[in-house]
Amino acid sequence: MIQALTLGNKTFNSNLICGPLAGVSCAPFRRLIWRYSQPAFTCTEMVSCKTLLAKPGEAQRRFIEKAPDEGPLCFQLAASDPLELGEAVKRVTDYGADLIDLNCGCPVKKIRVKGAGSKLLTDPTKLYQLIMAMKQNTHVPVSVKIRVEGKSGDKFNAEVAQAVSDAGADFLIVHGRHWTEHYETPCCYDDIQFFVEQMKIPVIGNGDIKDLETLRKMFATGCAGVMISRATVGQPWLVAKLTAELNQQAYALPALPEIGALYIEHVTGLIDLLKHERFAVIQARQFAKYYGRFLANKTAFCEAMNSCEDFANFKALCQQYFPATS
Ligand SMILES: Cc1cc2nc3c(=O)[nH]c(=O)nc-3n(C[C@H](O)[C@H](O)[C@H](O)COP(=O)(O)O)c2cc1C
Repeated sequence: MIQALTLGNKTFNSNLICGPLAGVSCAPFRRLIWRYSQPAFTCTEMVSCKTLLAKPGEAQRRFIEKAPDEGPLCFQLAASDPLELGEAVKRVTDYGADLIDLNCGCPVKKIRVKGAGSKLLTDPTKLYQLIMAMKQNTHVPVSVKIRVEGKSGDKFNAEVAQAVSDAGADFLIVHGRHWTEHYETPCCYDDIQFFVEQMKIPVIGNGDIKDLETLRKMFATGCAGVMISRATVGQPWLVAKLTAELNQQAYALPALPEIGALYIEHVTGLIDLLKHERFAVIQARQFAKYYGRFLANKTAFCEAMNSCEDFANFKALCQQYFPATS
């Protein structure tokens, strides 16, 4: 059920949240979300504390820039060193973070070998120290976004729940998959329910939400809020649509030319942010499957996008596949 959500010292009008997506959730993407939807908040891409604390420069822009027409923003940090994390937390608080999250779910090898991301799930002592460092260096609500470690009730899940509670995190986000599991393995709702039952702080459920049915299933775990990540790409109205549908109201989907125009706007914003046309266009290839989800010839569109190298070609393809796109 859609309702107000209190996380630490902040209350939001909705309990639907747009999650972090590396390579996607920078300002040009988030602005589209806010134009169509009113989630509780959106998230930055994960940024490592080392990158953040290095001399500010162009490389950081995509992680720290927030557009004036955006709503509340949660900065997501990756860290394994409490001192470094404390400094980074101060920095993003100064940048205007409305909330700050610690990534404890990233399965990528180069993050895990540094003792960060999902590696922290088997190091509850370090996790506790990291959360303490966050709490000591900011006044905004802090959270931890985890994957699950082992079967519900297994030693590590229970220890993670304890560390998160003891260190005083304001809320917990649970993606119901083990770090070794790919997206073909369905999200485990029972594991999310395990944390809901263990924790006194609000638990946000995450994984595989794409429509009313999956949203209802997630709310059935008893979670206080729901985070949606992949399904928001290419349909920034999703939170508004789900909110309307939960209230038994119809939601009129934008027509195809509007979707094509949004893809172009997204990529135009990315070029502007990154100041590098080719890099932005190559990055934007991975959005094709999302923006193209309603196209009858989606496969051909994705294939054509895959060899696209410049903005003129990208725009021409959008105009070809989304007829009447300006
Ligand atoms: C391309 C991609 C990038 C992601 N980047 C992040 C990230 O930076 N931080 C994070 O916590 N999770 C990240 N995730 C995980 C999602 O936020 C989310 O937990 C997961 O996809 C399950 O939710 P969903 O089914 O709603 O997408 C990423 C997932 C994908 C597919």
